[in-house]
Amino acid sequence: MKNYTKINFPKDFLWGAATASHQVEGNNYNDWSEWEKSQKRTDYLRSEGLVEKYGLENFISGRACDHYNRFQEDFKIAKKLGHNATRFSIEWSRIEPEEGKFNEKEIEHYKKVITTLKEIGIEPFVTLWHWPIPIWLRNKGGWQYGKIPDYFARYTEKIVNALGSDVKFWITLNEPEIYARYSYLSGVWPPQKKNLISYLLVIHNLIRAHRKAYKIIKKLNQSAQIGIAKNNTYFEAYQNKLINRVLKKNIDWWRNFYFLNRIKNHQDFIGLNHYLHNRINYGFNKNENEKVSDMRRELYPEAIYYVLMDLKRYNKPIYITENGLADAGDQKRGWFILETLKNVSRAIGEGVDVKGYLHWSLMDNFEWDKGFWPRFGLLEIDYKTLERKVRPSANFYRDICVANEITEDIVSKYKNLLE
Ligand code: FCB
Repeated sequence: MKNYTKINFPKDFLWGAATASHQVEGNNYNDWSEWEKSQKRTDYLRSEGLVEKYGLENFISGRACDHYNRFQEDFKIAKKLGHNATRFSIEWSRIEPEEGKFNEKEIEHYKKVITTLKEIGIEPFVTLWHWPIPIWLRNKGGWQYGKIPDYFARYTEKIVNALGSDVKFWITLNEPEIYARYSYLSGVWPPQKKNLISYLLVIHNLIRAHRKAYKIIKKLNQSAQIGIAKNNTYFEAYQNKLINRVLKKNIDWWRNFYFLNRIKNHQDFIGLNHYLHNRINYGFNKNENEKVSDMRRELYPEAIYYVLMDLKRYNKPIYITENGLADAGDQKRGWFILETLKNVSRAIGEGVDVKGYLHWSLMDNFEWDKGFWPRFGLLEIDYKTLERKVRPSANFYRDICVANEITEDIVSKYKNLLE
């Protein structure tokens, strides 16, 4: 084991984990839950041999982690794990199940979630939209529909009016560019469109929706801090060759910066979701893949350093709102967290204003089109009994959160986990 010099994090650094309503709550009724059960989807899964491999139930969100009913227990565990912040999302389809009809009981539910967090000293980061939409809105055309920014603004106003006084951090949209690409260009996610115009239109509507929501939240609460959760990838121009640099510049512009540039006057912080490295060497995705997650994604922790350095240009505080890996055996998570945090600290040392780190995810959950098999949790979920079990890496992470630094003692205590 190498020697580590102590790594400090800034005072008041926020530490925690993130979830999203559709992935953990259970019993949601929205465009995704319908899609999961559709004939088209089932036929596809069968034809690919995925039903045989994982079982059909893997692909249906169903009761998920039952977090909707167990949030108190879950956040108590988070507290014990040293977290002082958490990110969760509000499920639009619960709040507005029919057009213009808001469900006060569901608003109460989220009020209770926030009160619970506040009482135990966990700062909430509230996401307003983490991908699914209500069925009625899907029927109008979803994110392609020209009036959707107004609907989003109205929903935002309702929520902020009801919950606003206790919430400092709002995330309007989760990974808008990823959503638009997978749902409207590559056609993997609902509504499975493959259309360039639709893709661009959806991005445009998401930008409009964010700006409207931003103005409303600010109007209702001037001290609110508002951002989006933006997925940024480290595109590496291998060996700095000219052609690689040209490819990098273009893809960086479109995938990493375009959306942020368009909302740059409407954000108080940048939420960074970071997972990927993409080495460009006369083409994309020429990664070495020396270490990979269970989803075969390369684990390349230094990528976050470059991504953070690139965000310096916006001169805004940065919260890492997602970062993690699928690792059912918990063999790499500890190592990955340690190496990632070293790189975060390196960026902070070079002047990037990073103010928090939220690991994806607090618990195993329903990973969209992949279903339940990828295990991203600090907590392991037994989907039969719904029992939560703390993974060893969660204890390692706890020690860092509590100390607000990484010391040699911590590293040597978890030596076996980190090798
Ligand atoms: C991100 C999503 C999040 C989760 C992780 C693994 O792109 O925002 O919901 O699925 O990937």
